[in-house]
Amino acid sequence: MNLKQMAGEKAAEYVKDGMVVGLGTGSTVYYTIVKLGEMVKDGLEIMGIPTSLETERIAKEVGITLTTLEEHPVIDLTIDGADEIDPNMNLIKGGGGALLREKIVAFASKREIIVADERKLVNSLGERFYLPVEVIPFSEAVVTRRLKEMGLNPETRVKEGNRFITDNGNIIIDCHTGPIENPVELEKELNMMPGVVENGLFIGLADMAIVATQNGIKEIKGF
Ligand code: 5RP
Repeated sequence: MNLKQMAGEKAAEYVKDGMVVGLGTGSTVYYTIVKLGEMVKDGLEIMGIPTSLETERIAKEVGITLTTLEEHPVIDLTIDGADEIDPNMNLIKGGGGALLREKIVAFASKREIIVADERKLVNSLGERFYLPVEVIPFSEAVVTRRLKEMGLNPETRVKEGNRFITDNGNIIIDCHTGPIENPVELEKELNMMPGVVENGLFIGLADMAIVATQNGIKEIKGF
């Protein structure tokens, strides 16, 4: 079993009958969703809220009943992946481009569990991964200029030769920040910029991480 599968499947143990469950996006939480599908077949009763069209597709395929934030604005538990996790349990997310819906779902959740392999643990956010910023296409040039002035090395995300378009019809500008000194301030500063819809800094939203290492699973609330 690979590390992503170990972490993903372990998290499914936290899902109980009757819960409304936020379903994250990515290759680690994929294993959680598949496991939940098996548990549903064995009688588990849950309702899922997907964080992306891709997750919606997978959840339907494995037989998880879906609901919406309109029907359930409070989510019992969300399980999601991350691109980086720092010692304070702050995250960078959005490698898969689903950061906006992921952050809304995290915000609506009583509890957020992150599933990851040990390579995602960093001392400072931005150390290894880029920081995705979701912006309205009309604002691309203006936001890019400002991000350059801030020294954040922005680069519009491209997929198959075209600008990557999110599930919300926006584009993503990936910022090659290097280690971020003050993620709390940067999150605010980015989101105050007209045209920026959301950014991949998840501050104070994760309660626990299930991290798969070569020496087994670790459940951490900080490190
Ligand atoms: C998608 C995300 C993912 O959770 C993040 O990219 C981690 O993905 P993976 O588990 O495939 O490494 O934020 O927007």
